[in-house]
Amino acid sequence: MLKIGNIEMKNPVVLAPMAGVCNSAFRLTVKEFGAGLVCAEMVSDKGIILQNERTMNMLYIDEREKPLSLQIFGGEKESLVKAASFVDKNTNADIIDINMGCPVPKITKCDAGAKWLLDPDKIYEMVAAVTDVVSKPVTVKMRMGWDEDHIYAVDNARAVERAGGQAVALHGRTRVQMYEGQANWDIIKEVKESVNIPVIGNGDVQTPQDAKRMLDETGVDGVMIGRAALGNPWMIYRTVRYLETGESMGEPTAKEKINVCLLHLDRLIALKNENIAVREMRKHAAWYLKGIRGNAHVRKQVNACETRDELATLLTNFAEEATEKEASTQAG
Ligand SMILES: Cc1cc2nc3c(=O)[nH]c(=O)nc-3n(C[C@H](O)[C@H](O)[C@H](O)COP(=O)(O)O)c2cc1C
Repeated sequence: MLKIGNIEMKNPVVLAPMAGVCNSAFRLTVKEFGAGLVCAEMVSDKGIILQNERTMNMLYIDEREKPLSLQIFGGEKESLVKAASFVDKNTNADIIDINMGCPVPKITKCDAGAKWLLDPDKIYEMVAAVTDVVSKPVTVKMRMGWDEDHIYAVDNARAVERAGGQAVALHGRTRVQMYEGQANWDIIKEVKESVNIPVIGNGDVQTPQDAKRMLDETGVDGVMIGRAALGNPWMIYRTVRYLETGESMGEPTAKEKINVCLLHLDRLIALKNENIAVREMRKHAAWYLKGIRGNAHVRKQVNACETRDELATLLTNFAEEATEKEASTQAG
């Protein structure tokens, strides 16, 4: 069973933190599909300290999402510690996660994200400084290394453990790889065998069967799913079911997909406002539409929608068309 500090998850399936995606609207929806743990999108330590409005809104957590892990990022000890302390005292997050994997130059230039991967001593120092001042469990999400020549995953994970970190999530790619190539699960196994804290494996889990294979082959305590859950919370439900019963559930129908997409939209409107939510929802809608036959023209039209009603009408009409097609395919 996946247990981080004193927080027990009801299953080992974890929704990955994804910037611009994992806000409360999406997380709650994924939670309702059975995720053991949901992770929030990364939040800047400086934003937290300055208490800027947009950042403060990112700290909102609905009680129904819990257990939840809230991820912060930063490059300097003082600001990271202050931000962690704020999250510890002022949010209902269960776990504080530190980002050590973000590959984008804007972040690594500030010595944050994946930049830490080059220096296990810095990891120890930063994580220890945070665990010293907070009472919630602290975890770290990292990539396996900076590039092929600097893969310090084992040393880095050990540094987290020594510093009082309560779990590590490991994405089996280097910073230089970004999202290219295949995630290396061997290194995930190596890390699992090198530390005593829980390890969550991450990278290229695209099907429920992949999740089981990762758990079996690497021995990890949890399996983290990112891209496969975009517009597809069923991936989480199907994975939980597969792990629990061995049952392979079918894909959702077009109507089911659109209904959940509209629920997600309404939650996003409640969280932000209609104008922002509809714009943000365009990318999600394209993900929900993936795999439904004949979706190309609707995906284009989605990008022109400005209001909830326009988007909802477009998607509902398309779902009806697609349902008729599904029925005629089955009949034929
Ligand atoms: C749109 C997007 C945003 C992401 N944002 C974050 C983030 O905020 N923090 C983080 O640690 N990882 C982030 N990641 C990386 C994912 O958490 C995960 O490690 C990666 O996608 C590999 O897992 P997957 O193969 O299941 O997608 C992001 C990935 C994507 C696709």
